[in-house]
Amino acid sequence: MYSVKIYGAGSIGNHLAHACRDKGWEVLMTDIDPAALQRTREDIYPSRYGGWDPDIRLRGMGALPKEHFDVVIIGTPPDTHVRLATQVLENSSPQVLLIEKPLCNPPLVGVQKIVDLQKATGSFVAVGYNHTMTENSRRAAQILQQNLIGDPITISARFREHWGGIFGAHPWLNGPRDSYLGFFERGGGASGEHSHAINIWQHFARLVGAGRIVEVSAAMDIVDDGVVKYDRICLINVKTEVGLVGNIVQDVVTEPAQKAARIQGTKGFLEWFVNFKSGHDAVHYRDGKGEVREELIKKTRPDDFKGEVDHIEQILNGGDRAGSPISIERGLDTMLVIAAAHISYRHKRSVRINYDRGYTTDAVELL
Ligand SMILES: NC(=O)c1ccc[n+]([C@@H]2O[C@H](COP(=O)([O-])OP(=O)(O)OC[C@H]3O[C@@H](n4cnc5c(N)ncnc54)[C@H](O)[C@@H]3O)[C@@H](O)[C@H]2O)c1
Repeated sequence: MYSVKIYGAGSIGNHLAHACRDKGWEVLMTDIDPAALQRTREDIYPSRYGGWDPDIRLRGMGALPKEHFDVVIIGTPPDTHVRLATQVLENSSPQVLLIEKPLCNPPLVGVQKIVDLQKATGSFVAVGYNHTMTENSRRAAQILQQNLIGDPITISARFREHWGGIFGAHPWLNGPRDSYLGFFERGGGASGEHSHAINIWQHFARLVGAGRIVEVSAAMDIVDDGVVKYDRICLINVKTEVGLVGNIVQDVVTEPAQKAARIQGTKGFLEWFVNFKSGHDAVHYRDGKGEVREELIKKTRPDDFKGEVDHIEQILNGGDRAGSPISIERGLDTMLVIAAAHISYRHKRSVRINYDRGYTTDAVELL
């Protein structure tokens, strides 16, 4: 049985606590806000999963036991991730450290230290882009591997979702100004919050051999009322190192939500959907005979995190870390595109990502 410590007893902290308990692992949750621990026990966990699990330990930050944990999860706001992750790696060496997405704020300050500490400690550091590990993504990967769609021509991805749903899951918040969500500089806004779209675009680009994103051109619709400052719409055109062009759309205004990706090839296409219809993800594709197929994949919200926690279990059991879709390097590739999008929007110019410069905004050059 593995042991898990979760920082942040909010929405994602509860999802991941439940997914870990489902594995029979020991879970301790902590939070800087005692009200969050109380809400977890009395409200979030019971209302989502049918009852409180008394085997979960809830502890204030000042009462954390000095124990070794196999897994540490950071499920706090993005602008706290780097400091917490650095502290965790400096003071203990969990086998796995999972940091929620987005990894940090767009300026990327301090992330190289986490990469260095990963190497020094031997911990596996992951970033929570869980959509790469859900059943629809595994199925999409199998279909792409069979090369049914021919050579890739273009990829599109969109995570367009009015954030009423997010605030519905956070009834204790009155709106974007109450959290990082209303501040792109703190990792909120559409560019950070819905960065699953950038990440799944990169995931599929890798699977079809299109390489990394090297050029970015972005347009944004920024809400700035003197208090909040966030992109409610973030449109990104991209080009990869092999010259494949495509686009990524993230917004916090679309209702009902659209979460999808499409890969067009020379012989066919593949479309990947999250919540295609109630209780189902889906994959559509044109097979070798020219017929369009639809595969519906039954799922619940807890299933969104199952593949990710299964993957962590494989790593704990000595499984291969190389090529992990949730490695910190992959999460940083996504962060570089978020940073590049903001720089492109600010300068009204296309930008180039120079990966040789490391994980810093110096890697983003104006074109
Ligand atoms: N992968 C996913 O699908 C997914 C889903 C939801 C949220 N997230 C991500 O998870 C992160 C948290 O989002 P959320 O919706 O759970 O937020 P939330 O506001 O519901 O919870 C965050 C909690 O962290 C606590 N916290 C803040 N600073 C802390 C610190 N320094 N130490 C300990 N606790 C601290 C807060 O008190 C709060 O209870 C964000 O980065 C978000 O993007 C990912």
